[in-house]
Amino acid sequence: MAAPWSPELTVNHADMDRQHADLFRLAEAAAVAAEHQPRSGVERAIQSLADALIDHLSAEDAVMDETLYPERGRHKSAHELFLRDFLQLRAELDEKGPTPVVVDWLRRRLPEWLRFHILVNDVPLASHLASRPSGPRVLRRGASRRLS
Ligand SMILES: [Fe+2]
Repeated sequence: MAAPWSPELTVNHADMDRQHADLFRLAEAAAVAAEHQPRSGVERAIQSLADALIDHLSAEDAVMDETLYPERGRHKSAHELFLRDFLQLRAELDEKGPTPVVVDWLRRRLPEWLRFHILVNDVPLASHLASRPSGPRVLRRGASRRLS
């Protein structure tokens, strides 16, 4: 089983922490589906993960723009690169089905990226949000973009 979300990954922003924990959970559920369920179940699980991932990254992008976060260029590029990687995973799934590459991506690559990204990029973003006079902002999950 992949390393789940754990307390040392908290960024002290309720929405971000909840969404991060959801992503770990959905990735593990998709890995279990890839190993044990028929193709339709795997696709559903990956779609749930895709929706949550896009919503989360879009919400962070939006709050960085709204609050003029100084590091937003670099942070958004990290999101963009990771989404491209995710599209490759979906292409692999569409082409070949739930191969070991797909399972490895869900069990290892995504959790590793998330851990690194949270500690390196999201902790400073959460501090920036907390330091604002109006307090931390709500991260809206708007489903503004969809992977299809
Ligand atoms: Fe982020």
